[in-house]
Amino acid sequence: MDWKKKILVTGGAGFIGSHLVRLLVNKYPDYLVVNFDKLTYAGNLNNLDDVKDHKNYVFVKGDICSNSDVKEAFESYDISDVIHLAAESHVDRSIEGPIEFVMTNVVGTVNLLHAARNHWGKEDGHIFHHVSTDEVYGSLGAEGLFEETTAYDPRSPYSASKASSDHFVNAFHHTYGMPIKISNCSNNYGSHQFPEKLIPLMIHNIVHNKALPVYGKGENIRDWLWVVDHASAIETIFHEGRIGESYNVGGLNEWTNIDLVRFLCKMMDEKLDREPGTNEKLISFVTDRAGHDLRYAIDATKLEEELKWRPSITFEEGLEKTVDWYLANQEWVEQVTSGDYQAYYDNMYSDR
Ligand code: NAD
Ligand code: DAU
Repeated sequence: MDWKKKILVTGGAGFIGSHLVRLLVNKYPDYLVVNFDKLTYAGNLNNLDDVKDHKNYVFVKGDICSNSDVKEAFESYDISDVIHLAAESHVDRSIEGPIEFVMTNVVGTVNLLHAARNHWGKEDGHIFHHVSTDEVYGSLGAEGLFEETTAYDPRSPYSASKASSDHFVNAFHHTYGMPIKISNCSNNYGSHQFPEKLIPLMIHNIVHNKALPVYGKGENIRDWLWVVDHASAIETIFHEGRIGESYNVGGLNEWTNIDLVRFLCKMMDEKLDREPGTNEKLISFVTDRAGHDLRYAIDATKLEEELKWRPSITFEEGLEKTVDWYLANQEWVEQVTSGDYQAYYDNMYSDR
């Protein structure tokens, strides 16, 4: 088959990556989608059961830090484009162990850039799209929004590693003319998210009548976007964004953690047929995250005006779809939490 594009999607077995792979495989039958993933605790091939037999989908198990794994993937499939999502993604884990974040997020990204440069040379028509986070901009006070021009000010080991990877991507553009694009997105939620992040963790604990650990006073603010809308933003930026540019992605949807958890508790009282107020009693305020950023909020005007992207649903609709998915897919939750998940939590909360 003469593929129009042969896209290496790194981290395609993870939360956002699997939504992006599903979108690309279904919508672009003339693209070959090569899902390149190491399958860490956060990667799960079952996330892609519905597309695994499509002719335009291939899975390659590999490590972005390995020179030979990456080179082989580029050569075997004559990769024309990269959408790079593979990363260590959880802030709390980065506080416990920063080295792995440097290795995967920084060294892995540079290794991938290096391989793309070797494979493409000075040929036109390629794209290296790096998927990044709003956390690179640091933390906001009560006012203001992150814009693409906001100075980088990362404050956790995770955000420092992502900021560093963004700098390398830009450096490859300025130094070698690498055709790059960067997107910086706010907090995602939706199906297939590992239950260590706030929303799936709270859903999981509510189902099992376990304490809901809210860090500090729960006053920190996050700006939430449905993962399917993030995937559509990546698709839009990949196709229509300008080379060398960054685009912020977000849905103007700010919530304090405590308001969000209370909202979820109410929604799940109804879904689980529990007395109103039952789930809220599970809320437990625990020791704050070290260096906890107060507020993130994205200004996505550039993406909306230049590329006409908009989120497709409200937070209330997206959260209900998410809760319904987790309730209907308890087997998935059991599978992904069957390894050292409990040991991780026992360790995480031992000093809280
Ligand atoms: P995730 O943790 O769910 O998935 C990460 C995936 O990367 C997993 O499939 C894992 O197996 C794979 N991976 C990890 N190390 C690898 C390596 N060395 N080689 C190959 N594959 C490897 O992450 P996510 O939440 O889906 O985030 C995806 C990307 O989007 C990350 O780059 C993250 O920084 C960024 N991002 C996430 C959010 C969010 O809210 N989750 C928001 C903005 C940006
Ligand atoms: O902003 C984008 C970022 O959002 C992504 O780059 C990261 O990959 C992603 O993990 C996410 O980072 P956060 O740290 O904001 O997400 P998390 O779900 O871990 O936490 C959301 C908020 O909830 C944060 O203020 C910490 C708080 N929290 C989190 C957990 C896991 C709690 O209060 N209790 C918890 O148990």
